[in-house]
Amino acid sequence: MTQTRTGQSFTGTDYQRLARELVDPDVWDFIEGGAEAERTVAANLAAFDRVRLRPRVLAGVSEVDTSVELFGTRYATPLGVAPTAYHRLVDAEGEVATARGAGAAGALFVVGMFASRTLEEIAEASSSELWIQLYWLRRRDVMAALLRRAERCGYGAVMLTVDVPRMGRRWRDMRNGFAIGGDVAAVNIDAGVMASAHERAAGGSALVRHTAQQFDAGVTWDDLAWLRAQTRLPLVLKGILTAEDARLAVRHGADAIVVSNHGGRQLDGAVASLDVLAEVADAAGGRPVLFDGGVRRGVDALAALALGARMVLLGRPPLWGLAAGGADGVAGLLRTTTEELAHAMALAGRPTLGDLDRSVVRMSTIAG
Ligand code: FNR
Repeated sequence: MTQTRTGQSFTGTDYQRLARELVDPDVWDFIEGGAEAERTVAANLAAFDRVRLRPRVLAGVSEVDTSVELFGTRYATPLGVAPTAYHRLVDAEGEVATARGAGAAGALFVVGMFASRTLEEIAEASSSELWIQLYWLRRRDVMAALLRRAERCGYGAVMLTVDVPRMGRRWRDMRNGFAIGGDVAAVNIDAGVMASAHERAAGGSALVRHTAQQFDAGVTWDDLAWLRAQTRLPLVLKGILTAEDARLAVRHGADAIVVSNHGGRQLDGAVASLDVLAEVADAAGGRPVLFDGGVRRGVDALAALALGARMVLLGRPPLWGLAAGGADGVAGLLRTTTEELAHAMALAGRPTLGDLDRSVVRMSTIAG
């Protein structure tokens, strides 16, 4: 398996295949799985199968520019790493390796609240922009302390994930009795707050119990004022799927929105992210809209960018890269997918991201 540590010339799904061979089966289920019947996991992917592109020709595409600006920072690629928990489940260096890989590709890395390396270690390893992701805990002091630390080491924005008032029922994890174990831990959060994430019990996921005990399911739009007042960093809300909530997000001070159904891990049966992207973008009042859910190839990113996303985040694929090749695997995955995007932009006759608009995409009613 030596080629798994070299990265580069694979497509995203090759990294997936390689990662599967290397990762513990329970951890693989945790990464790949979704809620209940996994219909929304499938819907996210199927939505991209319905994308058909309307290429323009003779558009002068000898130079293709994939760079993008967001909150005053310019990125080499509009692809970023979505927040995902516990990278040390698949690589000994964990988020430190992910940060090095994202940095090498010039990509944004959104560090999860449940990162398994400290915010400071990750910042030290990073050569590109980092954001911090938060869930709303009952212990607001823990949220505030994390924010202070993130600000001190230069994180550029805070992404609040709003689609987990309780954890989706992920049957794979529940059947596996999945718990975070060994020497992997959410090291940025009080051990007391995290204890229940480690208690393995037959017939249930420790993460479900942990979420029920520690997350605050009672928060409402009005509570956002508290978070707003804690920081001057841009506030990004992740997990918006309707125009109604996009308008509320803007009214309550969100600086950007992420259209996301949590990779199909929360409400099973929720709409595919791609299917509501244009609706949410129209309602976002000019605020940047980011996107995640089911992006596996550069051409998928092209469709999301054309339908209104400023940036496209990848959740599972960077974990495949990390498992298959550490920092090089993350960089390879991001670079390969960015190259696919640049290639698709050239062939579609849209050499800059500014050229990507809805005229690029026609959604076919049936796949095929
Ligand atoms: C996630 N996701 C997630 N989101 C978040 O806001 N905080 C988190 O801690 C996690 N953890 C997490 C772990 C794993 C293993 C996965 C696969 C996902 C959701 C993630 O940010 C993103 O919304 C989806 O993964 C995007 O879908 P794709 O790209 O995986 O299809």
